[in-house]
Amino acid sequence: MKELPLTIALPKGRLQKQVQELFAKKGIAFDFEDRKLVAYDKDKQFKFILVKNSDLPVYLKHGIAGLGVCGSDVVYESGDEFYKLLKFSFGGTTMCLAGMKGCDYSESDRKLTVATKFTKFTEDYYSKLGVPVEIIKLNGSVELAPVLGLAPYIVDLVETGSTLKANNLEIFKKLQEISVYLLANPAYFKIHYKKIEKLVEFLSED
Ligand code: PRP
Repeated sequence: MKELPLTIALPKGRLQKQVQELFAKKGIAFDFEDRKLVAYDKDKQFKFILVKNSDLPVYLKHGIAGLGVCGSDVVYESGDEFYKLLKFSFGGTTMCLAGMKGCDYSESDRKLTVATKFTKFTEDYYSKLGVPVEIIKLNGSVELAPVLGLAPYIVDLVETGSTLKANNLEIFKKLQEISVYLLANPAYFKIHYKKIEKLVEFLSED
């Protein structure tokens, strides 16, 4: 009987390209043609599913994808627990508190108003510090918030820093390093661990 492919969810956007390049470098080429959201490699060893970044934990939790490539930021927001199989060398970012350049931010501010996509992270981070925080939830282009006066501060990911710079913003505090991992649904891992371990080994080789 022909073996079923391993299912791997990939996030749309920046990471997608980097994962495709890594697999291609290892001799496994695949492409999402004509805006299709499912792709296979030539030997049908892998079935790749292209999903919105923040939805990836949903597919993984429900076992629709057994494996997934996802940042620790997104997993934290989901509140789900997955097996971390591999930390990738690409996609590292920093979760930061930022605001308008020159704004007199002080660690001892009694209350912070923060616009962010990362509401759980922000809530938990400041509650551990005992700092009350009012959170305004956004779904993207968070940098607009201080520029337009929606909130003086944002908590967001900074990679190159160019979005902050272009909008006259600066980092006030680095809150957490974020990495990208190959994750597994625990039940799926238990069933397919032999094939998964081979994949991990294969992806880790230089
Ligand atoms: C992320 C992040 C910042 C930007 C940082 O947004 O939320 O906006 O990238 O990258 P940089 O430091 O290299 O400029 P993303 O591109 O995912 O889009 P979004 O604004 O729609 O969330």
